[in-house]
Amino acid sequence: MTINTKMPDAATASETLEYLKKTLQNIVPDSELVVKAEIAYEINRLKKEKNAVILGHNYMEPALFYSIPDHVGDSLGLARIAAETDADRIVFCGVRFMAETAKILNPDRMVLLPARVAGCSLASSITAQDVRDLKARYPGIPVVTYINTYADVKAETDVCCTSSNAADIVRKLDSDSVICLPDEFLAKNIARETGKNVIFPGSDRTGKDDMVIWDGRCEVHDKFTVEDILNARQQFPDTVVVAHPECSPEVVEAADYSGSTTAMTRFVRESDAERFLILTECAMGDNIAAENPEKEMLRMCSIRCSHMNEITLEDTLTCLRQDIYQIEVPEDIRIRAKRSLDRMLKLS
Ligand code: 13P
Ligand code: SF4
Repeated sequence: MTINTKMPDAATASETLEYLKKTLQNIVPDSELVVKAEIAYEINRLKKEKNAVILGHNYMEPALFYSIPDHVGDSLGLARIAAETDADRIVFCGVRFMAETAKILNPDRMVLLPARVAGCSLASSITAQDVRDLKARYPGIPVVTYINTYADVKAETDVCCTSSNAADIVRKLDSDSVICLPDEFLAKNIARETGKNVIFPGSDRTGKDDMVIWDGRCEVHDKFTVEDILNARQQFPDTVVVAHPECSPEVVEAADYSGSTTAMTRFVRESDAERFLILTECAMGDNIAAENPEKEMLRMCSIRCSHMNEITLEDTLTCLRQDIYQIEVPEDIRIRAKRSLDRMLKLS
């Protein structure tokens, strides 16, 4: 699920720079890498001194992605690593709900998020009270909640899911109907895959195989359109289109492949095609391009996740130096949220 980045172990400052120059040529200008390599070197020195592990989501900007994480991956892969680490500190280069997940699984370790906020439009689209209201309106139906939610929402949930296991989790539940929250598009994509009838809160159930959904959306993936795909194919007919399942069902249907961020990366790595359109956060297109220099990545860099982009090498260094931006989760919420994460890890 995760790939280990290949920075040489205990690299000196000049080895760090050489490695980044070689890996990111044509992607990040050398002048920028000179500054970033210095910071990355200091972070790597400090993380050993403080027995920290750095987890980096696939959306991290290329210089960070290729220099400081001990592990990179998607939400599921990083949650698994977080559950197993024995480091004193976990520095999560991702967004808040991911760092919170690491804290839920690791209450005795210090979890640091190198940002003041680093939110997510999906996580802020639903509250714990919304989930309680849905459970009252549709009693007895299990609640499957996307990992892109905060701890109090996970605490109201039967089982969590991520983009890489959502359909699998829904199939494995002992119930023909489910409440699937909060991403409207992800839920509709899973409903199509698992043969469920989509209903919005307030509507009556059809009686069987219902999927009650919410109207949360990822502000990034919501922006990709079928027209973007048609335009790319018109210009380059050999383009293979890869889309994250947070894109609309129409976009996912028009794409050649849809999967989690790690699944998309693996798909490009293993494909013989030469040109891809990557419909997700642009930095991941850069990271895939660096790994596959012989292939061309078309990416729409006007569409960015401002939350993921809050994480910088500079703030990661400050955070690790000062142990600031620690994540805390109230214990009663943590225990209940952990149950739904544990169920997911067991089922997937
Ligand atoms: P993945 O679990 O596929 O990495 O997705 C996380 C995310 O936030 C995508 O926008
Ligand atoms: Fe949230 Fe979308 Fe950003 Fe992912 S890309 S963190 S779902 S806002």
